[in-house]
This record gives sequence, C-alpha cells and structure tokens, in this order.
Amino acid sequence: MDTRREKLEALKKEKNAVIMAHYYVPDEVQEIADYIGDSYYLSDMATKVDASVIVLCGVRFMGESAKILNPGKKVLLPDLHADCPMAHMAEIEKIKEVRQEYPDVAVVCYVNSTAELKSHSDVCVTSSNAVKIVKELPNHDIFFIPDEHLGTYVAEQVPEKHIILNDGFCHVHAAIRPEATKAAKEARPQAKLLVHPECRSEVVALADYVGSTAGIIKYAEASKDTEFLVATELGVFAELKKRCPDKKFYAVGNTQICPNMKKVTLDKLIEALENEENEVLLSEQEISDAHAPLLRMLELAK
Ligand code: 13P
Ligand code: SF4
Repeated sequence: MDTRREKLEALKKEKNAVIMAHYYVPDEVQEIADYIGDSYYLSDMATKVDASVIVLCGVRFMGESAKILNPGKKVLLPDLHADCPMAHMAEIEKIKEVRQEYPDVAVVCYVNSTAELKSHSDVCVTSSNAVKIVKELPNHDIFFIPDEHLGTYVAEQVPEKHIILNDGFCHVHAAIRPEATKAAKEARPQAKLLVHPECRSEVVALADYVGSTAGIIKYAEASKDTEFLVATELGVFAELKKRCPDKKFYAVGNTQICPNMKKVTLDKLIEALENEENEVLLSEQEISDAHAPLLRMLELAK
C-alpha cells in the first residue's frame, strides 16, 4: 500500500469517517472510496452509513444533499470549488411565475441543483428515478428544473403529463454532438450505444440504452454484447473496465470530461480529512427547507 493510502486509512479510523465517491471523479479517488455510485446511490447511502464524518468526493450539490439528509454528520468536500454549473441554472422568480400560472403544478428538481432551488421544489429526482417519480406524482403539470435535456427525456417517457421545461444544461453532456455520435456508430456498427439522459435529445434518440451512470454500468455488465460506445463523462470507464474486463468501451468523443469532478484529487481528500476542513455548511433553515423534497425522492424511488 502506498503511503498516501496508509495515511488515509489511519485518518478514517481516527475520525470515524467514510469516503463516498461519484463515478466521474479521478480513478485514484474512485479506487480508495468506501462507497461509489451514481447521485441517487450517494444520497441514499449517506442516510445509511454509521460514521461521524462523510467525505463526499464529488461536486458541491452532492455534499449539500448528504448534509441536508444528515444534519448531524460532518460532511466534507475535498474541493469546495468543485461545483456543477447546471446546479445554478434555474430562477426562483420563474418557479413562482409557473406556480401562479399552473396552480396544481409539481416543481420537480433534478438533484443537480443548489439547496435553495431544492427548497422551492416539491420533489427531487436523479437521472435513475426521474421517469418513475414523475409518472407516480398525482400532478398533471410538471415544471422540470434545471436540466432541459433530462426534462425532455422525461417528457418523452411520460407523454401523458404536461412537462414545462427550463433551459439549464450540462456543458459536458451537451458537448456530445449528434453528428459525432452518428460517426462513432458508423465506425463501430457492432457496438451498443449507452447514453446518459443529460445528453441532447438527438443523441438520446440514437441510444441502445439510456440511463444514469450506475444504470449504464449495470447494463453493460449484464449485456451479452461485448463492445460499447459510451456517451457520458469519461470517469465511468474505470468502473466499466473493472466490472467488465473482457468487454470493450469507447468514448463517443474526447470532450467528455467534467472539469469540476476532476478537481477532486486524493491529496485534497487527505488534506480535507486531516484538517476537517471544507465542511459543507448550511443554516438550520436551509436544511429544513430542502429536506422534504429530497426525502420525498428517497421514498418515491423505492
Ligand atoms: P448520475 O451519476 O446520477 O447519473 O449523475 C450524473 C451527473 O452528471 C452527476 O453530476
Ligand atoms: Fe454537472 Fe455535468 Fe459535471 Fe455532472 S458532468 S457535475 S451535470 S457539469
């Protein structure tokens, strides 16, 4: 074991800490994580672990969700500046306007959002449960924030509902162009195309499978096919190769890198835990306002 790993193991014991990581963080962090998964798994697992400190190796909204669901635990982020730009791409004023126009609307908030946006919403969703939850809501009118592309995918899957879209987007997934995806398919006609629903609808339309990072990994693992084109952030390749050593995975393009997820390094993780710094701090009010929509997601996703 290298010395950094030894140090981390000692710190985890000393501080009663667990390390949770998203599939997009650098491989060196994924390798040492106690729990690794998609956004839903990380939120759910944060409510189940028996530890005093959670180091959330991901972007800020993931740390905030863990804190909102576990106000009694200390949640640390290796890099406080690792923030998802899409998390800010909705307006409270717009939510108020939509609520006025559609009195029965449910505001459905993708977890890739600030605590403030969550607190103005009725329920949170992740890419792994958005379709299921929107289907199950009693409301006909749904205002889906902040991601236009995930909202469009949900609208296609749940045509019986009226989905009002917002104009947020993930710059990493939106950069995967339909032309490049078609060209990649033509170059490897034997490969199945696995697509994250944050991608543009023209890319989603070309997919053999659409799902969250965990869904993509599970699908590839269970599939009889042996070659796959992957349209999501390149961090998932670590887990895909680990679980499917005999299968081949190709990126659709070479731009699929989230600069914020890549800010989370092993050195920063160790430093944050050693000094118990970069704590996610939210007021009691912020926590109580954002708690209900997140909890409702965990209940409806079951
Ligand atoms: P999932 O891991 O939930 O699919 O989310 C993707 C993502 O972009 C997280 O930032
Ligand atoms: Fe945000 Fe996109 Fe990065 Fe996910 S991949 S954290 S949605 S910018």
